[in-house]
Amino acid sequence: MSATKEAIEKKCRDILESYGRVYGAERMVECKSCHFVTSCGLRFVKSMFAILQELVDAGLKCKVPLTANPRPLDPKAYPLVERLVGGYIYGKQQLLESLLLKLGLMHPDAYTCTPYYIGNKPSYGDVLAWAESSAVIYANSVLGARTNRNSSMVEIMSGVLGVTPEFGLLLDENRKAGWLVEVRTSQRPNFFALGSLIGKTLGEDVPYIVGLEKWEVKEYELKDMGAAMAVWGAVGLFHVEGVTPEAVEMGRRLLRSEYRTLVVDDKALKEMEALMSKGQRLEKPDLVVIGCPHLSKEQLASWAERLEGRRMVSKTLLLAAPPIVSELRSSRTYTRLREAGVELSSICPLMLTNVPTSKRLSIATNSGKLAYYSHAVYVADDELVARFSRGA
Ligand code: F3S
Repeated sequence: MSATKEAIEKKCRDILESYGRVYGAERMVECKSCHFVTSCGLRFVKSMFAILQELVDAGLKCKVPLTANPRPLDPKAYPLVERLVGGYIYGKQQLLESLLLKLGLMHPDAYTCTPYYIGNKPSYGDVLAWAESSAVIYANSVLGARTNRNSSMVEIMSGVLGVTPEFGLLLDENRKAGWLVEVRTSQRPNFFALGSLIGKTLGEDVPYIVGLEKWEVKEYELKDMGAAMAVWGAVGLFHVEGVTPEAVEMGRRLLRSEYRTLVVDDKALKEMEALMSKGQRLEKPDLVVIGCPHLSKEQLASWAERLEGRRMVSKTLLLAAPPIVSELRSSRTYTRLREAGVELSSICPLMLTNVPTSKRLSIATNSGKLAYYSHAVYVADDELVARFSRGA
């Protein structure tokens, strides 16, 4: 017989309170949104399924908008061998998706690491229970919302209760910057490389970045920079002078009274790019992956422009949230991308590189995150176009 709803709610609350106590939380606070990280139906992760099933059996549902990270599988994105092996190791995908729907997933296709592009977009100051490091740093920095880098299951338990323990980046004092990062590059910086360098240098501290105002930074550049910071270090929040909302509001008062300084110049970024490419040069990769984190509509349009009149010589995936890909299908951008030989998909490419047989594939990516976590080799955007496409 299933436990009562009240009993499971109490169990979740006890777990969240114990978790909060470890980090010094003194109370629980209302949370407004949940983003679930373990979106792959890995057949070996039995405890996750047991917990989710228990929540569903008790009749619990998220009280706040719920989205999840990208799916692992897409037949057209996977070569045959990986399709078979991946189909086996992610064999509980359907079960996972049916559980998440019952727990209140916003939409059957709400699988992306950019939930803010598909309707789960918090407002300034909202407290969230998000997991997925690239989404967390975006929400904290670009939206000015407040979330910790939650562990898997903490986020969903917070979602079903509608509260989360208050500590870490939820508190004003921890949103102050311990580093002043001065960007002094002669050209528009490579944002993946800049994020990687900051993350590698700072660890988990908060940077206050100056010197970017003159480049009219795009929103998606902040997304990609943050994703890299969150993997090369464990940064969960950054401020950009004159750009991000808390920096606009408070300026340099966000700097702690004692802070350290990092100066980023052209040489430092070039060295970082070399590190990201692991000293490897792929001639004709089996696969090119663009879109980790998932691309915005603006980024998709800019890739269509970049590839106009060209054709990729390797199988190339551009990744974006399922609703964005669906919407794109009736647009000129989609036609242009298809003419350039590009496939659109919504997978998480890291899940593909986690399929053991995928090590046989040479993979090039413009993502500082995917290159960090996998055997994929980093190649900057311009070089990627120059080397892996030709005039159509
Ligand atoms: Fe997103 Fe997967 Fe990359 S979750 S950030 S596409 S590793």
